[in-house]
Amino acid sequence: MFFIDSSNPSEIEDLFSWGVLAGVTTNPLILAREAASVDLEQRIREVIAASSGPVSVELTSETPGAMLEEARRYHAWDPARICVKVPFSEAGLKVTHALTRAGVATNVTCLMSFNQAYLAALAGGTYVSIFSGRIRDMGYDARAVISDTRAQIERERLGARIIVGSIRHFMDVNEALAAGAHVVTVPPPILRKMLHNPKTEETIREFNAAWENRAK
Ligand code: E4P
Repeated sequence: MFFIDSSNPSEIEDLFSWGVLAGVTTNPLILAREAASVDLEQRIREVIAASSGPVSVELTSETPGAMLEEARRYHAWDPARICVKVPFSEAGLKVTHALTRAGVATNVTCLMSFNQAYLAALAGGTYVSIFSGRIRDMGYDARAVISDTRAQIERERLGARIIVGSIRHFMDVNEALAAGAHVVTVPPPILRKMLHNPKTEETIREFNAAWENRAK
């Protein structure tokens, strides 16, 4: 399953029209790059209108009380669609646990290891987000983190679903799915690149030219 890693409503609407996307993830870096001067609530409401499925909005406060207050504010924008993205930490686990008990969907994010992903799943995270590209930046293989997490989720029948983010190349997508990701959140340029294969384009040109030049 694919989510789109973007906060650009017009791009999101266009890409959802392909029929291949099931949700949206945003983060403060994406929003700062794409919508620095726009009101956050307005932007997220536009993203919700342009898409379907869960829309992850990340907390930027760092203490449990402030995080819960921020989470309640985001959740109220659309309780059925907002998924509160909780950065992993001790405070993040407490907040995930409290939000889970309150019936709020969560996406525990910035996970770089099996241990972190397992803790996030145990705390009740609806989604646990493993960051493929950033794990590779440290010189580790993200596939083992993904497959070990998936195996543990299956063994204990935990409810968490694995999102793999921080996608830099096609192969990150393919490897994440093969390793057991339930969802890959893909940046728009990578999704668009998946359309192209020179042999497909050559074949379509050949077929259409044959039809155009057929003996009439
Ligand atoms: C996932 O939910 C994050 O938004 C994202 O994939 C982070 O990736 P980055 O490493 O490109 O910042």
